[in-house]
Amino acid sequence: MKRMFKANPLVRIAGLAIVLLLLTGCGKGSVEKVKIGFVVKQPEEPWFQREWKFAEQAAQKYGFELVKLEARDSERALAVIDTMAIQGVKGFVICTPDVRLGPQIVAKTQQKGMKVISVDDQFVKPDGTFMTDVPYLGIAARKIGEDVGTELFKEMRKRGWKPEETGACIITFDELDTTRERTDGAIDSLTKAGFPKERIFRAPQKTSDLEGAFNAGNILLTQQSQINRWLIAGINDSAVLGAVRAMESKNLGADAVIGIGINGTDCIGELAKPNPTGFFGSMLLQSRIHGFVTAEMMYKWVAEGVEPPKDTRTTGILITREDFKQVLTDQGLGDLVK
Ligand code: GLA
Repeated sequence: MKRMFKANPLVRIAGLAIVLLLLTGCGKGSVEKVKIGFVVKQPEEPWFQREWKFAEQAAQKYGFELVKLEARDSERALAVIDTMAIQGVKGFVICTPDVRLGPQIVAKTQQKGMKVISVDDQFVKPDGTFMTDVPYLGIAARKIGEDVGTELFKEMRKRGWKPEETGACIITFDELDTTRERTDGAIDSLTKAGFPKERIFRAPQKTSDLEGAFNAGNILLTQQSQINRWLIAGINDSAVLGAVRAMESKNLGADAVIGIGINGTDCIGELAKPNPTGFFGSMLLQSRIHGFVTAEMMYKWVAEGVEPPKDTRTTGILITREDFKQVLTDQGLGDLVK
């Protein structure tokens, strides 16, 4: 006769309870962490890698799980919302590849019972106005752009260049408000400082990356080949780097070009080069606030019901070859310059 090990009823009930606890994740040590998403439009930009890195620090501090996703186009941006919903993400921070996708992102987010904060690039409505009801954290774009113009003019004066013999190459991307404000600000302050308006040239990027800026710069240089001293402003570091490379291809180097970028995270290799290039410096933005604070805001919203402020702006400070190592270290970005 086969021997059966029959547990007594009490033991069987206890066993069942343990299995249930494990399955529902209520057992000690298996408590499900809150999941927060962080979606970025250009993961290859060090700027966005920094945002992720600082968001990770918030995840460690508060004990939530960070789900990092990239969305280079609109289709993908909507698809990742589904992915996050399936994974149990309760809320996410996003720098969208297209700000006009805002209404669809919000609709989908609500439908899935999630929350959303936009970072860097603010959602817009079909009529072009901002979706001010969605919490947003971005830069004080016009002021930072104005500072670029002021610093360019200052450096030009320091070198004794005459404005009437200099050109200003402005790499623009007017499709996006935060980037248009930056270059409009730079143009404004250059003009106010006395730089001749007719010597300021807008060079629109088709794509907001280094290659797009290189092409835009090349077109301008072909049109204005008689100018051999240049100031460069642009929407970010990659934009100015692209224009600097275009200038180099026309034999215009550090002694003929003053370029100032924005971000400060995407130009470290350039500033660290043993010989100076036309890339003079950058307005260093606060990636820690963009990454850590937005993720923290989302966590507190989801876990504690604390609503984030609707509009938060950050500022920038100039870094140059001379001081970038020190400033980055002071700003908690020391690992970038090791
Ligand atoms: C935009 C730019 C980024 C960065 C952020 C800062 O998204 O594309 O490179 O400058 O703004 O908010």
